Amino acid sequence: MAGLNDATRGRLLFGGDYNPEQWPPEVWQEDVRLMRDAGVTLATVGVFSWATLEPSPGARDFGWLDDVLGRLDEAGIGVCLATPTASPPPWLGARHPETLPRDEHGTVVWYGSRNQFCASSPVYREHAARITEDLARRYGRHPALRLWHVNNEYGTACYCDETARHFRSWLRDRYGTLQALNEAWGTAFWSQRYGTWDEIIPPRRAQYLINPTQVLDFRRFTSDALLECFVAERDIVAAHSPDVPVTTNFMPLFAGQDGWRWAAEEDVVSVDLYPDPAAAHDDATGPAHGALVQDLTRSQAGGPWMLMEQAASAVNWRPVNRPKPEGLMRQWSLQAVARGADAICFFQWRQSRQGSEKFHSAMLPHAGEHSRTFDQVRALGEELAGLTDVVGTTVTASVAVLHEWSAWWASGQPGRPSAALDYPAVLATWHQALWEQNLTTDFAHPEADLTGYRLVVVPQLYLLSDAALDNLTRYVRGGGTLVCGFFTGVADVDDRIREGGVDERLRRLLGIARVHEWWPLAEEERVGLSDGSHGTVWSEDLELADAADDSEDAGRAEVIAAYATGPLAGRPAVTRATAAGDVGAAWYVSTLPERPALRALLAEAARTAGATPVLPDAPAGCEAVRRGELLFLLNHLPEQITVPLQDPHTDLLSGQAHPTEVTLGRHGVAVLTPTPKGSRA
Ligand code: GAL
Repeated sequence: MAGLNDATRGRLLFGGDYNPEQWPPEVWQEDVRLMRDAGVTLATVGVFSWATLEPSPGARDFGWLDDVLGRLDEAGIGVCLATPTASPPPWLGARHPETLPRDEHGTVVWYGSRNQFCASSPVYREHAARITEDLARRYGRHPALRLWHVNNEYGTACYCDETARHFRSWLRDRYGTLQALNEAWGTAFWSQRYGTWDEIIPPRRAQYLINPTQVLDFRRFTSDALLECFVAERDIVAAHSPDVPVTTNFMPLFAGQDGWRWAAEEDVVSVDLYPDPAAAHDDATGPAHGALVQDLTRSQAGGPWMLMEQAASAVNWRPVNRPKPEGLMRQWSLQAVARGADAICFFQWRQSRQGSEKFHSAMLPHAGEHSRTFDQVRALGEELAGLTDVVGTTVTASVAVLHEWSAWWASGQPGRPSAALDYPAVLATWHQALWEQNLTTDFAHPEADLTGYRLVVVPQLYLLSDAALDNLTRYVRGGGTLVCGFFTGVADVDDRIREGGVDERLRRLLGIARVHEWWPLAEEERVGLSDGSHGTVWSEDLELADAADDSEDAGRAEVIAAYATGPLAGRPAVTRATAAGDVGAAWYVSTLPERPALRALLAEAARTAGATPVLPDAPAGCEAVRRGELLFLLNHLPEQITVPLQDPHTDLLSGQAHPTEVTLGRHGVAVLTPTPKGSRA
């Protein structure tokens, strides 16, 4: 099977989305000259070219693309060729309105923007397959072709009648019988029982709360329906070029696709990433967000991955769009390399002069080649070209953060104990608390093999399958350390509340007899804990298991911190359990501690589990990651920092030797290789 190494061929890929159809051929000539100047090795072409390639139904205009690919090839620039199916031409919607998606209200989502297709529409699929087939037949053996890019950021949900038919057939596959569906959905509630398959519809606009399992299944279905579109196009392009890997770009920590299932279908996992340049260094939307998405993407890929899109400077879709100060684009690019990326690409190569994204930055901005942005792009291209040692190497993590999309979909619905519970925010807080102390983390599916990890954390997984619960039990019984966050293990895969409110296997592991009640906190409310710290978002009325229970699998919990204020004062808040004869431990954290407290708690759990931070002496604000033999150091503080080293190193970026320490200025980065013994440092 083709993989990312077939595209990189030993060099980090560097480039961006290239939309030549927006420009006359004179500009193409300049583009190629400047791409060479900037060290671009990969141009992603054709992402939104459908209307240019097929100006009227069945017509083909490949001449311009022949020309562009020929020029890129001549210049030695590789091509990531996109199927154009994310943005069907207006004629498709005008002639076949059934290809247009409908929202929950039944309102048509019109053309005039992009992504206006219904994944279940056979007419859309047929047209998408035809243009993909012709594109693949024509360019599948093109010498410049390095990678296929199918569609773009799949994610449009549709609620139309065609979707309803498709949803029913998906449900038939899942449940087999209507009786099984009625049971799984709990349709005895509110007289929702279905008597025929035809009565079932997507969760359209309704009078009040919609059946939660119907909503959950519809999200699973939507992800699968979109995935079918990807797989269909992937198979077409692969048939014409079996040695060329195929990807589709994910949005960062995106709710609309089951990222584990999708990644399994891709040769290369790629992501688009846009942290906020205006964020403070320790804000969740800044470099911590970058690290989270990079760790997740690497874990989905199971190795090197591709940064398909980032901004050279400002985006145009925040309320206020701040440019990146000098050095930040470089630092965030190298952060991605540190965390496993083998391709650093941008949206987009040349800044548009028309259309909705003309104020979105690009590698080559309106200000032209003599601009601060282009200077930085050129410098980055040169640096990345020098980092051949990193290509194909891996990042090893001793900590796993468990994450799963169904749990997100189920816990994010209305009608729960608290609307203030925000799954991705909880996940991000836990990840950031680990990231801030340079504990390298993977993400993992709760049913994945966890035996290689010293520490496994579950920030909040409301829904857990039986297989996942057995997996966690096995992990702890096998000597692992588990830290489990609040409101976890509550529902089964049908969103049916587990017997006793929290799964019994988990309660036994945690040494908890029962959770009497969920006690969510008001927004901005903090609850005091006995160690002087505070919890936010959530609290729980817990009762610990009887310490006298000496059956083999009964976890005995000690209270690490109790609630100190509010209605639960004196009751356990954070616990740690071990079972007789076990080496493993299972912590339970029934609130969301403020980040410094969560950091301290995780530091202690990691220490006892034997998970060590990269460079334990690194000062705060210094991100340290090991990739292969290389040690990446990044300074996220506004001021200069000095980082002590245990052994002499040489910085591959500056060529400088660092016998004992490295000093990094604002946005500074060092990529250190151990200095061979005997050489003069
Ligand atoms: C991405 C998209 C690109 C471009 C970019 C702007 O979501 O794939 O085509 O729109 O955002 O930030």
